[in-house]
Amino acid sequence: MSETPTDYTGPERILSGMQPTGGLHLGNYLGALKWWVALQNSGAECFYCVVDLHAITVAGDPARLPGRVRSAAAAYMAAGVDPSKSAIFAQSAVPAHAELAWIFQCVARLGWLERMTQFKDKAGKDAERASVGLFTYPVLQAADILVYKATHVPVGEDQKQHLELSRDIAARFNRDFGNGDAVFPLPEPVIQDHGARIMSLKDGAAKMSKSDPSDNSRINLDDDADTIARKIKKAKTDPEPLPESEAELNSRPEARNLVGIYAALTGTSVEAVLDEFAGQGFGAFKPKLADAAVEFIAPISGEYARLIADRAEIDRVLRLGAERANAAAEPVIAEAKRLVGYWRG
Ligand code: AMP
Ligand code: TRP
Repeated sequence: MSETPTDYTGPERILSGMQPTGGLHLGNYLGALKWWVALQNSGAECFYCVVDLHAITVAGDPARLPGRVRSAAAAYMAAGVDPSKSAIFAQSAVPAHAELAWIFQCVARLGWLERMTQFKDKAGKDAERASVGLFTYPVLQAADILVYKATHVPVGEDQKQHLELSRDIAARFNRDFGNGDAVFPLPEPVIQDHGARIMSLKDGAAKMSKSDPSDNSRINLDDDADTIARKIKKAKTDPEPLPESEAELNSRPEARNLVGIYAALTGTSVEAVLDEFAGQGFGAFKPKLADAAVEFIAPISGEYARLIADRAEIDRVLRLGAERANAAAEPVIAEAKRLVGYWRG
């Protein structure tokens, strides 16, 4: 067996994406979007995609999908992604994603996919009835990343396993088709310590998620001040006051989550929050948290409301982004097709 070439020497590139399923929440922002914005100034080229191909792996209303893509693009911009710096585009507007996904389906092994926990979670008990697309979802994700030869992928903690699969696919492609070259980089997840796993307001053991049926479980980026205050007031807690040390939060998942959110929102550490609030109960802490959340989200939701009203402008951004993304993806898909031996007339 030949050595796996992994010594990629091309430029650094950033890619990430989110599904256009409903509005975005604080977990999406603190776990991912915030870092997308920060990386725009890293000097690397940035590609931020709305993954509508992934959206159709589960049933949804086709008539609402284009609006949801626009809404996700507006949320990216409201959070600070700047379309003059980063390409913002719909995955379906760049056919090379799907083309590379097919090649990667022939590179990835069935056993690798069978280990993916997100499939098990999403398919639930009736996995036999899940679409084949839901099963191969992480292979398409690898194509999203590698069709730009992206080197860094800012995501929340829950995407770690998918990133490992992307690395396995890149390494296997390089080995089987690379003729000794590292055609694809092994992409690195960019996962931050704080904010990478924001939990539900109703259950400290479940992550904050768009798919939770209860809207009270999450803070949405377009919630108004009253809604945010009400949700935080109702958030599950325990009767103990806040402790002095971070270690004492380990057995108190709800308390740990709220303190973590406060630290992430105010840009401080968990220790600093505990220094300020140790000994105080949630009756005192929750209003402070609500204020911080409102102050943080108000400019984002205001900007979102402004952007979403101008559909033509969002479409212009998405077209421009697709042009840039296609230009970057075309040479990569051409190289991959040549390496696997597709016919060229
Ligand atoms: P999704 O909402 O599953 O499409 O996720 C979009 C991005 O947000 C991914 O990078 C996720 O890892 C991240 N994300 C989603 N939920 C959370 C959460 N509760 N905490 C931190 N990051 C999250
Ligand atoms: N699977 C990711 C999620 O559920 C979304 C996604 C699709 C993605 N393609 C990607 C994230 C490429 C990073 C890179 O959140």
